[in-house]
Amino acid sequence: MQRVLSGMRPTGKLHLGHLHGALENWKALQDRYECFYFVADWHALTTEYKEPQVLKDYIGEMVLDWLAVGLDPDRSVLFVQSWVKEHAELHLLFSMITPLGWLERNPTYKEQQEELKEKDLGTYGFLGYPVLQAADILIYKAEFVPVGKDQLPHVELCREIARRFNYLYGETFPEPQALLTESPYIPGTDGRKMSKSYNNAIYLSDPPEVVSQKISVMFTDPQRGRRTDPGRPELCPVFALHKLYSPGEKQSEIDQECRKAGIGCVDCKRILTGNLLQALSPLQEKRSRLLDRKDEVRQILVEGSQRARQVAQETMEEVRRVMALDW
Ligand code: TRP
Ligand code: SF4
Repeated sequence: MQRVLSGMRPTGKLHLGHLHGALENWKALQDRYECFYFVADWHALTTEYKEPQVLKDYIGEMVLDWLAVGLDPDRSVLFVQSWVKEHAELHLLFSMITPLGWLERNPTYKEQQEELKEKDLGTYGFLGYPVLQAADILIYKAEFVPVGKDQLPHVELCREIARRFNYLYGETFPEPQALLTESPYIPGTDGRKMSKSYNNAIYLSDPPEVVSQKISVMFTDPQRGRRTDPGRPELCPVFALHKLYSPGEKQSEIDQECRKAGIGCVDCKRILTGNLLQALSPLQEKRSRLLDRKDEVRQILVEGSQRARQVAQETMEEVRRVMALDW
């Protein structure tokens, strides 16, 4: 079986954006590939180094969501990056051969520095973020890397590092391919992209009354100030969620009725809430069952990290040999 690898920085509880943007795809890939999925806690430290304590809770929360969604520890290797120290060794060795210009030119590097102005990201670790990512991928010789569009430059850099390594020391690493995750636009409650930092997210673990409350205050078509004003579903974030959670017929009915003010936003939201809660309920049941078994969840990661380490150690032996570090 061909190998897939991807990682996620621990940002705490996951929301609908993560579900459709990554997790559903990760879950489906389990049927066709040998999958390695990991918590990128060292990557999180590149921006959270001033408050590392929060990451502990974030890891637990995030992995609960992974398991609730259906990432399956019997089929996939679920692990924690910092528990497989070999990533750090390969990162160090890659840093010897990675030209600074490649990193300084990386578009994500500049964007993120601009975006997160309040954090001092002028660090060595942050510049090297994609080098660590290349080590994550290549240490497992993964063929495919499912990621969103924002990560494509990093996968490309990984391929360049693989090529340069192979050129210098002989054919060692396959060049991985990005599997671009096509995801629908997931608006948050204020109509902007759903994101923890915008405070507009609906979390997979939100209890029904919270989901209901968040949807009730959700932005709609701004032109529908009054119940009698006709609306434009294509501009309405509530309708964007109907597209994901309501059956096709219901969508066309709402579409038509909204345009002639036949349905009001309150009713429209009530229908969405019902359908969304129904879709989330199996996942939420599973999550609450796991919540009482935190030790087991931790054990899954311990065992996953052991399995990952076996593969990583084999690669490192080969790397040390070709780099003449085996004396
Ligand atoms: N940089 C990725 C992100 O922010 C996380 C990540 C770290 C990753 N290492 C990886 C993704 C290796 C894919 C493969 O989403
Ligand atoms: Fe949006 Fe529904 Fe209101 Fe139309 S009726 S504006 S789709 S919330």
